[in-house]
Amino acid sequence: MRAPIAVALDAPDLETLARWSFETSPYVSTLKVGLEVFCRDGAEAVMAARDGALRAGAPDTRIFLDLKLHDIPATVAGAARAVHALAPDFLTVHAAGGAEMISAAANALPDTRITAVTVLTSLDDSVLEAIGMRGPSMDAAVRLAVLAVGAGARAIVCSPLEVSAIRAAVPADITLITPGVRPAGAGVQDQKRVATPESALASGADLLVIGRPITGAQDPGAVARGLRDSLLETT
Ligand code: C5P
Repeated sequence: MRAPIAVALDAPDLETLARWSFETSPYVSTLKVGLEVFCRDGAEAVMAARDGALRAGAPDTRIFLDLKLHDIPATVAGAARAVHALAPDFLTVHAAGGAEMISAAANALPDTRITAVTVLTSLDDSVLEAIGMRGPSMDAAVRLAVLAVGAGARAIVCSPLEVSAIRAAVPADITLITPGVRPAGAGVQDQKRVATPESALASGADLLVIGRPITGAQDPGAVARGLRDSLLETT
């Protein structure tokens, strides 16, 4: 059994990314390729992630392409088509881009779960006010999640603190994905509002994004295996 974890492969180079993928994919369902890596290495980053999983004997590992697209609908549809050949299982867009933009992405990539990012966890209520977005952030996250699902998103990224409110507001088949997850005792780095894997899952999350607690360890595979084992024990 593999854990409902997306390892954030925020690697400094392709070789490291492929190694993290090889070491962790036997224990987790998903590998996440983010904006920084994709801007530097492009499609090769996704291929290196897949290749690592293949070599590890985990060819069904899902690919989560976290580009957080936000532009006019035609441009977002074009960007989605541009990654079609990579066949990502998840592709993120900003829900704040509006319903038409989200639909354009969903129509362009029908086999990918278009994943809407609600409110970035780096934004607090004072920032929302400054940019003119109606808060508080909890209300904004639920509002954006409902809008995104209505427009064709099939997954939502939200903070662990918002996940139970969003779980209650969207259908059960919508995948809820939470970053800001820290195993008990792990350092929090720059994440401000964190939850343990167990509490995020208990609140209704389906997939946990975990990066540095795994990839920053001496032995990322051992940490991923340990998390998988402790989650299997508690669920
Ligand atoms: O290393 P860490 O576990 O903090 O990595 C979290 C990952 O999730 C990073 O790739 C980060 O870009 C991403 N993310 C986040 N908060 C969000 C959305 C995405 O930390 N609100």
